[in-house]
Amino acid sequence: MKDKKQVWLNGKFIPWVSATVPILSHSFSRASAIFEIFRIHTGPEGPAAFRMDAHLNRLLNSAGLLEMELCYSVETIAEAVAETVIRNDVGRGVVKIMAYWGEEAVIRLLPQSKPDLAIFAIPEMPEMNLDSREPVKTCISKWRKIDPQTVPVSAKACSNYLNAYLTRKDAVSRGFDIGIMLGTDGLVTEGSAESVFIVKDSIVKIPPLGRVLPGISRMSVLEMAKSMGFVTAEEPLSLSDIYGADEIFLSHTGVKVEPVKQFEDKHLVAPGPVTRRLMEQMANILAFQDESYMQWMQKLSV
Ligand SMILES: Cc1ncc(COP(=O)(O)O)c(C=O)c1O
Repeated sequence: MKDKKQVWLNGKFIPWVSATVPILSHSFSRASAIFEIFRIHTGPEGPAAFRMDAHLNRLLNSAGLLEMELCYSVETIAEAVAETVIRNDVGRGVVKIMAYWGEEAVIRLLPQSKPDLAIFAIPEMPEMNLDSREPVKTCISKWRKIDPQTVPVSAKACSNYLNAYLTRKDAVSRGFDIGIMLGTDGLVTEGSAESVFIVKDSIVKIPPLGRVLPGISRMSVLEMAKSMGFVTAEEPLSLSDIYGADEIFLSHTGVKVEPVKQFEDKHLVAPGPVTRRLMEQMANILAFQDESYMQWMQKLSV
């Protein structure tokens, strides 16, 4: 599959196998890359990207937080995404954008060159588990979420994913699917790559921004839940809030509403009634069946 794939790199298309960086590149050896990932769906008029505008704004925000000056405007990147998706004939799948310093950094901490930008359009693979409706098992990670006073957690920065990797490793080694991290203050933050929602007395609750990645699915679920008439609250959540939750669900690019059937030793009905309604409405939107959400399904054309 990879031999035929084309990658957009700094304005040109190159074969997938040629899209590499030196081992000593700044972004590999100093972990200074940022990225963005979003879904591609097959719509009635061809491929469509889920909320690409919001994802590209987050990319710009991540770059700003790392003081990385991207060489391309949002408009140029959006056009390049459309061309990459169409050239690679991706129906259902994902787009992954990497912005990084490819220059070598033997000792230097501050890069001197302009960052590179690469766009990959990748068809669905089983490991992506896209739109899965399978409930998952969660636990509290032995790792705390990196503190926002040490690195910008609102940036989708590759360096932040060491924390995510360790958390997932810990959860899986204990027989769970997903680990949920507490912050250094002991409050609930998020999963390795998932926003964490609870439902209590029919109120849909989530920890506030500031200590977590501003998830695009998080934002979408909150907007959708409000428009369905649910009361929502972005408020600090403690461990006992999770234990006392009527329902728990996760939210991320691959599965926008992912029911949780177990939290540590507590078993939950999954999906619970509120989660089920949110799953159904999200499935309608992603199937292009709700006219009022068509602006989320952004048509890609060249
Ligand atoms: C740390 C973290 N939190 C939350 C999310 C969910 O964000 P989104 O809904 O934009 O995929 C991700 C996604 O990768 C993530 O890495």
